Amino acid sequence: MKKWYAVIGNPIEHSLSPLMHNTWMTVEERDAAYLPLHVLPENLEQAFTGMKVLGISGFNITIPHKETILPLLDELDPLAKKMGAVNTVVRLENGQYKGYNTDGLGFVKSLEDAVGTQHKNKRLLIIGAGGASRGICFALVQEGYTNIAIANRTVSKAQAICNELDTNAEALSLDEAATQLGEFDIIVQTTSAGLNHSEFALPLSLENLSKTAIVADIVYNPLMTPFLAQSKEKGATVVTGLGMFIHQGALAYSYWTDVYPKAAVVEDILLANLG
Ligand code: ATR
Repeated sequence: MKKWYAVIGNPIEHSLSPLMHNTWMTVEERDAAYLPLHVLPENLEQAFTGMKVLGISGFNITIPHKETILPLLDELDPLAKKMGAVNTVVRLENGQYKGYNTDGLGFVKSLEDAVGTQHKNKRLLIIGAGGASRGICFALVQEGYTNIAIANRTVSKAQAICNELDTNAEALSLDEAATQLGEFDIIVQTTSAGLNHSEFALPLSLENLSKTAIVADIVYNPLMTPFLAQSKEKGATVVTGLGMFIHQGALAYSYWTDVYPKAAVVEDILLANLG
């Protein structure tokens, strides 16, 4: 019988997830389809009940439902529980629905895809302390990265994440991070500052960036954010946010089907559809 998958959110029309998942499903000749579903916050519970009744095999969750879906689920993966946010739901064989969060692990996979797995003991700086940063920090620690500092405009939010991590992590102000920037091997930009197309929208100055640094941004539209463009100019290796988007989806797909799909299959088609 045909299997149905979906992504729910508000807004949803610009989501590239249907394109990505339907491409993988078509390439693998699965009898399956993935739909974008517009769900308003006040309708989340009813929408979920509807999906359960219809036997939807799995779905992704995007803004604004990633936190509010939690109490509705039958089971939660420990990492999703820790993050307090779910982006992937799997229908189990007994008909119950289990929540996962693949955002942070998707970032780690994309980083390791781009630069290998040999950087676990290097010094990492995560810029930003919002939901995206939290997910990435928990996933990095779970995957064995131990030397982490978090810099944020509001330092107390960076400190709060540090306190929750199972490793010694340091909270910094953006100014402190800018001064010490040359000491970091991997720098991850998670703030929304890069969404502003202005070149003045950097969360911190890149003046002290090391030429040998690896710099990643989680924003993928634009692909080359001002932060990445300036880092590249300074000689750093850059990792765009598209890999994180693809791998969070690939992980979700693998939870649904037991097959980890190839990132390369969807890369060009996603690039062609970025605004
Ligand atoms: P997300 O869930 O995408 O991480 P969020 O929780 O709203 O979004 O977090 C946004 C992050 O971007 C925060 O770290 C925020 O800093 P504050 O915690 O001090 O608010 C950061 N941010 C947003 N705009 C910024 C800017 N112009 N300069 C520096 N940091 C910025």
